Amino acid sequence: MEEFVSLRKRGVNLLGLCPFHQEKTPSFNVNPTRNIFKCFGCGKGGDAIAFLIEHEKFTYPDALRWLAKKYNITVEEVERSPEQMMQMQMADSLYIVNDFALQHFQQQLFDTDEGKSVALSYFRQRGLREETMRTFGLGYAPDQRDLLVQRAKGAGHSLDLLKKTGLSNADGSRDFFRGRVMFAIHNLSGKIAAFAGRTMHSPPQGGAGGGHIPKYVNSPETEIYVKNRTLYGAFQAKKAIRQLDECILVEGYMDVISLHQAGIENVVASSGTSLTEGQLQLIKRNTDNLKILYDGDPAGIKAALRGLDLALEQDMNVRIVLLPDGEDPDSYVQKFGGDAFNEYTARESKDFILFKTQLLLADTKGDPVKKSGLIKDIVISIAKIPDPIKRNVYLRECATLLEVSEQALVSESNKLIANAMRKREEKIARSPEAASDSPDRAPNPEHPVEDPTFARVQEKPLLRGDEFQERDIVRLLMQFGNHRLEKEDLTVGEYILTDIEELLGNFDNPLYGKIASECHDLLIAGRTFDQHYFIQHPAPEVCELAIMLLTSPDELSPNWEEKWNYPLQNQPLPELNFPLDVRQALDRFKLRKVLKMCQVNLGRVRAASDSGDTDGMLRYMKIQQKLYEKRDELAKRLGTVVLPK
Ligand code: GTP
Ligand code: MN
Repeated sequence: MEEFVSLRKRGVNLLGLCPFHQEKTPSFNVNPTRNIFKCFGCGKGGDAIAFLIEHEKFTYPDALRWLAKKYNITVEEVERSPEQMMQMQMADSLYIVNDFALQHFQQQLFDTDEGKSVALSYFRQRGLREETMRTFGLGYAPDQRDLLVQRAKGAGHSLDLLKKTGLSNADGSRDFFRGRVMFAIHNLSGKIAAFAGRTMHSPPQGGAGGGHIPKYVNSPETEIYVKNRTLYGAFQAKKAIRQLDECILVEGYMDVISLHQAGIENVVASSGTSLTEGQLQLIKRNTDNLKILYDGDPAGIKAALRGLDLALEQDMNVRIVLLPDGEDPDSYVQKFGGDAFNEYTARESKDFILFKTQLLLADTKGDPVKKSGLIKDIVISIAKIPDPIKRNVYLRECATLLEVSEQALVSESNKLIANAMRKREEKIARSPEAASDSPDRAPNPEHPVEDPTFARVQEKPLLRGDEFQERDIVRLLMQFGNHRLEKEDLTVGEYILTDIEELLGNFDNPLYGKIASECHDLLIAGRTFDQHYFIQHPAPEVCELAIMLLTSPDELSPNWEEKWNYPLQNQPLPELNFPLDVRQALDRFKLRKVLKMCQVNLGRVRAASDSGDTDGMLRYMKIQQKLYEKRDELAKRLGTVVLPK
């Protein structure tokens, strides 16, 4: 608690008055034994680090550093290259300049006559309260040539930094933002990364005529402002997104601010562009549930939907809400209030895939070419969903909506999945170490980049040891498990599993071993299994493997149109050659296992010989002899070279 004491020495009043909300009634309580503080007025509380973060606006690492320095504790920090240090220092300086600019814009807004009469009244007229303006760092840039540049220079900021942040023009002679209301763009930890400035004139209508000024202008990209990794409002929304386990995505700055003010705080904006992968990852870190609000015309909405397959790949639940004609989230909530907004979005939200299907279907109007294109489009989206159960629900519902057979959709989706998995395997087989890399992104162990296609394939695609042979056994169990072998009067499943019963614990690949054991258990329980059992298996890794092993590697049918007009045709012919296939696969599998046993047993022979255990040695040598016989028998049947003894 010494830090509280020291803060008091620095003029912070801790004598019962909360430094956060400056309440007049004494309600601030420091508990030195438990090393925590709590204000019963505003509810803030926590440990010394939380106090510093709250009071000094430190980041968590800065708070740690501050405390460490104070108590002479050495903090081991990751060593950075001089280049990284320079970058960090550059970033820090940019934040400092932006911070200065924010103070300036706020001072212009709240403390000058012009600001009050022009900008403050503009914001008020748009329904914003002063508290909201402060939360979001709103401000005002008067229409003057170089007010900010002069002030910043006067305060000792370098012109280079002003240019770099884009606060001045390229030669540093003029302010970039002039005659606009200002919006600070925070990064995730609340620092000012950039600004946007909006003209206060009514929105310019029509195309790019002469004298047309843009509604919004933005800071340029810098080290601290990467547009496609920034979500407007994320800093202010973070906590609510986690608490509510949902993120609402809107388009505009004003939408975020108005909703937040109306008590809907889990809102971020993509700022006019469609959602990028980087932005999606920011959301995914906090929740899997994304609700997207659209206003505007169907063409714009269609374009926006295109980017959303990314969200499906990440196994996110995406819902879409269309606002009533002529309203955006800001205007809606200002008109009708937060409760009405919540009711509306709850009532009107539609699942993304079903929404997309319906929206596009309305366009096809019985045109078979258009319709087949739509089916393809939808199946591509659905195939990206990693969860097989979810995927099957969508395939069923979309089959109904599209009036095509569910089985046909399932088989197209399986082809896509199988192809994507094969491509991935091939890529990895070609360069194992490049497997997790993609050319445009450096690997980052802290934020591993998911493979964009079917990232959740858990099986190691590079097969090792006996995995090839094991996989073949699994394929046969899946493909022909319930087919009968005439000669043996057994099903393929029964035949294989009685043959390798003792080897079930000896699979190199745990997934294959698990599947074989599961089949064994099913047979013992008197149950059968067929392809569907595996393709609809609740475990995604089993389901994905089944799809890959059971689906023929066709590319999508080129005569797609014809195909969808006769969706029940073109069923694949059943494989006729499976009895031979089964016997050979079993022999190859057993040969691998026998070879392994030869190795192990040979070790025992040597060990026994080394320790002078003659009895043991003789026993193991007999076993070895039997193993060699078995090996040769298998090899002979397979027509492979008999190995030297
Ligand atoms: P208001 O019209 O004040 O309600 O703003 P808004 O945020 O609702 O804007 P709008 O719906 O027109 O646009 C949505 C978002 O697109 C904005 O918040 C901006 O991020 C972006 N945007 C719109 N117009 C422009 C522009 O002229 N230039 C740039 N760079 N971005 C724009
Ligand atoms: Mn708007």
